[in-house]
Amino acid sequence: MSRAIRTQVAIVGAGPAGLTLSCLLAKAGIESVVLENRSRSYVEARIRAGVLEQGTAEVLESVGVGERMHREGIVHHGIHLQFAGERHRVPLSELADGRSIVVYGQTEVVKDLIKARLDAGLPLRFEVADVSVHDIETDRPSVRFSDDGERFELVCEAIAGCDGFHGICRPAIAANLDTFSREYPFAWLGILADVEPSSDELVYAHHERGFALLSLRSPQRSRLYLQCGADERLENWSDARIWDELQRRVALEGWTLEEGAILERGITGMRSFVTTPMQHGRLFLAGDAAHIVPPTGAKGLNLAVGDVTILADGLIEFLTTKSDVGLADYSARCLRRVWRAEQFSYWMTSTLHRLGDDPFDEQMQLSQLRYLVSSEAAARSLAENYVGLPVDHFAPWAAVGSA
Ligand code: FAD
Ligand code: PHB
Repeated sequence: MSRAIRTQVAIVGAGPAGLTLSCLLAKAGIESVVLENRSRSYVEARIRAGVLEQGTAEVLESVGVGERMHREGIVHHGIHLQFAGERHRVPLSELADGRSIVVYGQTEVVKDLIKARLDAGLPLRFEVADVSVHDIETDRPSVRFSDDGERFELVCEAIAGCDGFHGICRPAIAANLDTFSREYPFAWLGILADVEPSSDELVYAHHERGFALLSLRSPQRSRLYLQCGADERLENWSDARIWDELQRRVALEGWTLEEGAILERGITGMRSFVTTPMQHGRLFLAGDAAHIVPPTGAKGLNLAVGDVTILADGLIEFLTTKSDVGLADYSARCLRRVWRAEQFSYWMTSTLHRLGDDPFDEQMQLSQLRYLVSSEAAARSLAENYVGLPVDHFAPWAAVGSA
């Protein structure tokens, strides 16, 4: 026997997508229940993204969780590209209409969103089990789950599948979806280190031994990444080997990479993946449940937040006026931005990583990097993609007509 409960929107997954959506809906007076299969401490400790587009920061601010982000987040106006032993600054804000990025960890974003939700006394259940979606082709879909040994049926008007790449929502509608994907023959080994960042802005380094990235989480914590093999094992990387490899790949005359205790380490696979459409019946996929980008363009979390702002608009319109125009257009509106981020992330990845042993590939990359730091037009293209294009950017500026 299961106990029936009701809400307007059932949200599966308490990552950035699900939590931000719950806040956007609450602000408009729409009820939702968030279901998460992991514990609160697990979700709050999972180290992932670090770069927020200005638009993402504005959405977080608009739902009332901007205060700590403004205090502790670090606004950056540029990034560095390093190749052939030279480091060049790309002045993002100068090239992209004054827009900037905020360096603020996904862990902190998630902590702030969870706190806001729980402080407001709104439903967010951790450690639920056996989650499944039902009746999504009807106007009374539901989500079944167990909580503390008890079975529940959450009956709602729409379901938001915000349960990440390995969740249950996308598989539930797989027969109605087309998917596109690309696997890469390499991965990232990432560390969090107890040391002041050696560079005040991010450094993306192309090197014959493989890509490296210097990022940060705070004035005392560095976040660094190394390209490694797709099937690399963490046990093979001692602290000394990690630092030695980083030192070689980011070496620059007159500059030193400071080392510190490694607090956390992990290997992240690289994948591009898009599902289309991102909806079926009353189930709407958002964030990593619908698409994955390799992390080189720093786009995943930003896409997740972009999706749910569009989804929230559609749901609010539907639940307050019964018009489903916005919801019907949800996927199409998201996918224009998603494909742009896919292309940008693919391009950043293939320009900066060692692709194999063919020296022709390396010469193509070096020529592209040289072009980026010598042509303002090329650098501007990187900058406007990196800081993030507005949700409704995709109107052609030079159309001469249409069929
Ligand atoms: P998730 O964060 O995956 O959240 C999904 C949630 O659903 C999880 O909490 C999961 O536990 C839960 N869930 C799964 N299955 C179920 C179920 N059956 N029932 C209930 N709950 C379920 N992006 C950027 O924008 N900038 C960056 O700088 C960046 N760097 C990255 C670096 C690394 C190393 C990695 C791994 C990723 C990075 N990303 C970055 C990507 C970013 O972290 C993801 O795109 C982002 O987490 C997507 O958010 P989401 O809410 O869609 O999914
Ligand atoms: C990070 O700080 O984790 C980070 C920064 C930039 C990226 C990816 C990850 O492109």
